[in-house]
This record gives sequence, C-alpha cells and structure tokens, in this order.
Amino acid sequence: MPSRLPIPALADGTNSEPIDLQIRRGTQQFMPGVKTHTLGINQSYLGPTIRTRRNSELNLRYHNTLSEGVSIHGHGLHVPGDVDGGPQLEIAPGGVWQPSLSIVQPAATCWYHSHTHGKTGEQVYNGLAGMILIDDDEAGSMELPNRYGIDDLPVILQDRTFDGKGQFVYEPENADEDGWFGDTVLINGAVAPVVADVPAGKVRLRLLNGANARFYIVAFADNRTFYKIATDGGLLEAPVPLTTMEMSPGERCEIIVDLSSGAPAELLTLFEDEIDADEEGIVSNLQALLRGSDTRTPVASLTLNVDQNLPAHTTPLPEKMSTIARPQEHQIKNRRDFVLDMDNGGDHQGHGGHAHMDMTINDAVMDMNVINERVKLGVWERWRVRSNQGAHPFHVHGCSFLIEQMEGAAVTPDQQGWKDTIVLDDDDWSEFVVQFNHEATEKHPYMYHCHILEHEDRGMMGQFTVFRS
Ligand code: C2O
Ligand code: CU
Ligand code: CU
Repeated sequence: MPSRLPIPALADGTNSEPIDLQIRRGTQQFMPGVKTHTLGINQSYLGPTIRTRRNSELNLRYHNTLSEGVSIHGHGLHVPGDVDGGPQLEIAPGGVWQPSLSIVQPAATCWYHSHTHGKTGEQVYNGLAGMILIDDDEAGSMELPNRYGIDDLPVILQDRTFDGKGQFVYEPENADEDGWFGDTVLINGAVAPVVADVPAGKVRLRLLNGANARFYIVAFADNRTFYKIATDGGLLEAPVPLTTMEMSPGERCEIIVDLSSGAPAELLTLFEDEIDADEEGIVSNLQALLRGSDTRTPVASLTLNVDQNLPAHTTPLPEKMSTIARPQEHQIKNRRDFVLDMDNGGDHQGHGGHAHMDMTINDAVMDMNVINERVKLGVWERWRVRSNQGAHPFHVHGCSFLIEQMEGAAVTPDQQGWKDTIVLDDDDWSEFVVQFNHEATEKHPYMYHCHILEHEDRGMMGQFTVFRS
C-alpha cells in the first residue's frame, strides 16, 4: 500500500494571535511497522505550513521542548536580523522565542528550518523544517491554482538513510566532501507517496529542496512539459515551459502541471550526482533513463492520480504574472567578491574525507564573533560568488536577489525571477545584484552561506550587518 502524501496542517499567520510552535521529539512511521525517532514542530516530523499575507504581522511563538538549543530561521523572508532566526538567536532548552515579523514582500514560497550553530545539518535531517507561504493581492487575483492541499500542493523533497532498525543515519563525519546524502527520497516525510484525488486540471506544486546536500533533477516519468511559475522569492514575469529542472538544497520552485487528460503524473526526483548531469548531459541522459535503456529505472517519488469528479482549474495560465524591475547600472554602488573553498591551504593529501577539510568563504570559517561584511541599507550591490572546488548552493539571508550571470553564462528565463539561493559549479562563478531593505545589527547579523548543511556546519558561512547610513 503506497502512503498518501502528507499535507502539513495550515497555520494561519494573518491573525494577531501568535502561532504556537512546539519544537519537539517524536516518532514517525516511514517504513511499514517501524517507528523512527524524529524531531518535528507541532507534529512528529517537519512542521505546519505557515500561511501569511503581504502587509500582515506574522507572530510566532516557538517553544523549545528539546534538551538542546535550537534556532529557527525564516528562509526567504525579508525581515530584520533580530527576528531572522540566525545562530545568535538560539532558544535555550525549555525556552520560548516570540518573534513578530512584518511581512512586506510579494507572494512567495519560503520555509523555516533549524539554523543552530554547528547543528543545523543534524536538526534539519531529523525533521526541523516547514513551509511558509506568503500570499498577496496580485498573486491572488491571478488564474493560478491556490486551493491548499487540493490543487496547490506543498512538496518538500528530502533524502534520508535508515539503519537496519529503521532509524535515521546521520554521520556527517563520514560524509564525503559533497555532504551527507540519504538513499531514500521522502516527500513531506513519506516514501513515494500518492495523491489519490487531484482535480483534472492545472495543479500547482510548491517544490522545496529541503535536503541536506542532494541536488535533484526534477522531471515527470512521461517527460511531459510543466510550467515553472515562481522562483525562491516569488512569481516569474511569465510561466516558463520546462521538462527538467535542477534544484539545489534550499531552493524553491513553483510549477504547474496539467492533469486535464486524466492520466496520472509521476514526479521524478533524480539524484543529480548519479546521472552525470553536466549541462548538456542532463537531458540526453534523462531520455535514456526514461526509455529504460539505462539500467537504473527511475522510480516515481510522488504520484498524482486524477479524480474526474472534482471541480478543476482549467483556465489558461496568465501570460504575464509580475514585473521584475532590475536596477540600472548607475544604481549599483558597490561590488563584493566571495570565494568558496573546501581545502583552503590545508594539507588534505592522504586524509581524504569531508571531516578533514576546511570549508571557507574568503579564506575564513564562520566565527560568531566576526562580522565579515558591512552593507548599507537600501543600496544596490553586485555580488560575485565563485567556487574553487565543488558545487555549492550559496544562500543569503534577508533579501531576494536577481541573478545576472550563472556559471559564467547568461541567465536562463526560468532563473530570471527573485532568488535567495544560487548554484555555483565547481571552478565557476555566478553573479547577482542585491539590495537589503531591513537592518541587521552586529548583535543580530544576517548570514550568507553554502546551503549544503554539512558545509555550513563546518564553517562555509559568514556574517554581515545591514546599517542605515
Ligand atoms: Cu535556509 Cu541560512 O538558511
Ligand atoms: Cu536563509
Ligand atoms: Cu558547499
């Protein structure tokens, strides 16, 4: 019996009453008959979907019932540093943290997750993550599916390894340099789940790569075209047709899949590292996989089955969804360079393995006592980020940015929207423009970091302030 797709409960974040969020231990059944020890927020694994709205006050009240400290960050939110939930804002065991967040940004799919110093990887792996949906009037007035759990589905991608007793295995010290991979894909905390009753029309999937380290190639088993409508920070200007799409840890994509033919849709989440996905390779390799001429047959991670009796969203997609205003060259007042490295200066010969490598940005490992950059509020800057070794998803707190160049090439239409996470390939660089509109003080700075959580925990992270001049 395949499991049903778990749909996390909605928590109304438009109300002045704080949402109570219990960070707790639990057990969850991922494998038949086995209880796996987990962490969760108001549930045994993962947390509720917090739904808020532009121009509302999102009041949260976290209760840490664990015996260890936890900080919880709102990834993708444009909020000041003192409510951003970085590692400085750790909630002590038994403690409560009650941030009030003014939501001023456009509609987007964001998320919240553990950001505890040195423990992010472990706590996220065990379950401390959930989605945050921001609505606004513009997005609400558009012909887009928006019935949560019916034709607007949260899809949290993760991978986990289970031991012989069905417990999670997390051993970052034994990870290779690319971080800790699981062998089993979980979607919202279920193995290969099914939705039995999707309306026969357009369905919106809000995909979040919530894995610690895995890059996925997302596609459908019948190789159908789907439409990407949103990047990390909100709607694209226009829907972009795709058949495959890469997602790195931390990234979100909203896509529209058309189920009006009545045929089921099988979502594939292929491990990029296993399908030799160099730029050209992705597609041809995938075709081979889908034709079965490759020995590995892809298994659907999520199956959507149609119920013809349900009211469906059948109107065409809007041609124009948003206007993205890029800054003019003369508005860009500053430039910064960031270089990510995995073996900086150290003698790693003969040691091998991730545990012995230095993980640095601009030659420095994360130090809570050091502010690495100071940025002026409201000023456009150009950030150029380079990887000397390995692929890294680089993420910046407190903003959305616009990519100008990716891996040294022009930005493809599906990446032209607002982003907060950008992929750097091995020995390559990417560039984006960014402006910060909220303050982050020395006491509560923002972070920039690699979103491979084992890299982040090993120091591939820096702190910056945003100050009023
Ligand atoms: Cu999603 Cu600083 O992280
Ligand atoms: Cu973040
Ligand atoms: Cu990294």
